Amino acid sequence: MEKVAVVTGTSSGIGFETALALAREGYYTYATMRDTTKSDKIKELGQKENLKINVLELDVDDENSVKTAIQKILDQKQRIDVLVNNAGWAMWGCVEDVSVDEFRAQFDTNFFSSNCAICDIQKASIGSVMSKTSTSLDLKPSRWGLDCACFRVSAVR
Ligand SMILES: NC(=O)c1ccc[n+]([C@@H]2O[C@H](COP(=O)([O-])OP(=O)(O)OC[C@H]3O[C@@H](n4cnc5c(N)ncnc54)[C@H](OP(=O)(O)O)[C@@H]3O)[C@@H](O)[C@H]2O)c1
Repeated sequence: MEKVAVVTGTSSGIGFETALALAREGYYTYATMRDTTKSDKIKELGQKENLKINVLELDVDDENSVKTAIQKILDQKQRIDVLVNNAGWAMWGCVEDVSVDEFRAQFDTNFFSSNCAICDIQKASIGSVMSKTSTSLDLKPSRWGLDCACFRVSAVR
């Protein structure tokens, strides 16, 4: 039976490479991103290598977007075997230089939104969940917000 993978935040970086890697391993891969105008490169590589990559809009900060995307996947494939919860962003700056609003926004995307997306997808019964975190969880002053958000992601896994 064909295995289905879903990756969030595939417009660049780790998400982009992970979606390609899963598709190369034979997974039917939903490469999700909040702005699908950034999908040219992954579509082009998918076509060139004859990979099963389907680009789908999914913004982890938007509950409706998550629900719509997951429902679409389940309607099309009836299963999700692997979810790579990658979408997120980094904020650099000493704690005294970062506003509370910026800190909240960081937690919203990297912690709350990501984990809510997982909960929604888990209800749809999936095989494995991989969440991105960070290897540097020592709260370096220069990236306090990012590391806290990553630490919290690690703490709930
Ligand atoms: N690279 C590192 O050394 C490192 C270290 C620690 C943790 N991480 C974490 O690993 C993940 C990937 O990092 P990366 O280096 O590959 O960064 P990246 O190239 O900036 O990729 C981040 C991806 O997340 C997407 N994204 C951001 N907010 C989103 C949202 N609300 N909904 C959906 N997608 C969203 C971005 O989309 P847009 O193009 O639309 O912005 C982009 O596709 C991030 O969560 C990052 O915090 C990375």
